Amino acid sequence: MTLNRRTFAIISHPDAGKTTLTEKLLLQGGAIHLAGEVKARGQARRARSDWMKIEQQRGISVTSSVMTFQKDGIVFNLLDTPGHEDFSEDTYRTLTAVDSAIMVIDAAKGIEPQTRKLFEVCRLRSVPIITFVNKVDREGRAAFETIDEVADALALDVCPMNWPVGMGGEFEGLYDFTSGRLSQPSGDSKAFEGKVSTHSSLDATSLDDVLTAAGAARLREEAELAQAGYSEFDLTAFRNGDLTPVYFGSALKEFGVVELITAIAAYAPPPRPQPSSKGEIDPSAKEVTGFIFKVQANMDPQHRDRIAFMRLCSGTFKRGMKLTPSGLGKPVAIHSPILFFAQDREIADSAEPGDIIGIPNHGTLRVGDTLSERNDVRFTGLPNFAPEILRRVVLRDPTKTKQLRKALDDLSEEGVIQVFYPEVGSNWVIGVVGQLQLDVLISRLEAEYKVDAFLEAAPYDTARWLVGSDSALAQFASFNGGNMAKDRDGHPVFMARSAWDVGYQQEKHPDLKFSATKER
Ligand code: G4P
Repeated sequence: MTLNRRTFAIISHPDAGKTTLTEKLLLQGGAIHLAGEVKARGQARRARSDWMKIEQQRGISVTSSVMTFQKDGIVFNLLDTPGHEDFSEDTYRTLTAVDSAIMVIDAAKGIEPQTRKLFEVCRLRSVPIITFVNKVDREGRAAFETIDEVADALALDVCPMNWPVGMGGEFEGLYDFTSGRLSQPSGDSKAFEGKVSTHSSLDATSLDDVLTAAGAARLREEAELAQAGYSEFDLTAFRNGDLTPVYFGSALKEFGVVELITAIAAYAPPPRPQPSSKGEIDPSAKEVTGFIFKVQANMDPQHRDRIAFMRLCSGTFKRGMKLTPSGLGKPVAIHSPILFFAQDREIADSAEPGDIIGIPNHGTLRVGDTLSERNDVRFTGLPNFAPEILRRVVLRDPTKTKQLRKALDDLSEEGVIQVFYPEVGSNWVIGVVGQLQLDVLISRLEAEYKVDAFLEAAPYDTARWLVGSDSALAQFASFNGGNMAKDRDGHPVFMARSAWDVGYQQEKHPDLKFSATKER
């Protein structure tokens, strides 16, 4: 049954329309009934739980969640990645648990910084990407300009799958190249109300009956150029992450959303084999295996429990099954796993590769853990990402050093922060990829560990894991001891003052690798 799973995420810059698109995908899948419920439910949930007060204060969702819906026999698992600028490592790691991604671009703004960052993470694992150019109902840049930008900025082959007939005030509809389907706005609201016609080709005279003369001429001219100027759709190139099909649409008006779902069902890969210590594990393997890509604390503030999110990689999981977490070494029975349906958290009786299961626990499951029946495999490739914000942690009460160390160890194992122990000096340095994680850190230090600490600026801009021979490392350390640290696992790290510093050192020490990611 694994062939009918599509596990994917949406990557975008804030405001490009991810929430709106999510909502429309769920609507199409029948998972919610009224547009607006995604946001409304988010607010209700925030009101119920004090995890996190920050969520309320900032009005954003700190934590990713999983939404599942079904359509035409396909089960779609949509993993949400926080879209705010203050995103965290969770955002990155969630992308290690998907088989494909939709990249949403605002038609007027093109590729923005966060889209690019998330794209790079997808590229690390060759995750295939479908591009959705959103908001064609508004004035945007010319379709060609956006497509060229995707091709140039991301070094991808691009294949337009549909074409907008005009944009903004001149928008007359969307023409789907594969099906010859033209969907058009109707009524005053211009909202999509099912005005669809199908045409045998772009030359069909039937197009002239439903478009203005200018619109039809424009569509034919642009479509011809587009089809001649860009790659043809090639499933293998797409699945290798070398080509992206591009869909134009409007999430708000529900244009191009059906086409998008159809594309995920038809082209996006079913669960892919996952890299492990034993080579790639095929989803069709009998043994139940999976890995934890995210741990969320305090979902229920009354119970201080945690939910570990596991991506199932092979086998059929049944409730009550005993699996061994690699970090623990002894089997645990998983009695109350959770499947995250859009409406409710539902208890899972069984799950297939590609599905995500929430496992309640009290801190025994860590990000990066493999769970398996025989405890004979470890999934690899779940990376740490170089932090972009570094801070020194300063204790107000120096007698709490032990508690602080325990807290930092726990929180870094959980994946909330990374911690670095400088070779010189006594203050530990913590690193995060998003500002918000700093607030989460301080509030959890206080609430869970009763540690009163504050953060102060560190003279570093980023960190790089050093990989090389002992002699190369020793030579580097003899010059740069003051900027060296060890991470939680004792791995040597270069604390860099700037991106320029990284480049400079790399040039001076070609025999060392300055890595921006590290496998856990
Ligand atoms: P995000 O999750 O990526 O941050 O974006 P979100 O969906 O919240 O959309 C950001 C804004 O863009 C929203 O407007 C939303 O209504 C609008 N939007 C999304 N898709 C489209 C589209 O296809 N066409 C047009 N014209 N607008 C779109 P807002 O005014 O900030 O919020 P709201 O008050 O409408 O919720």
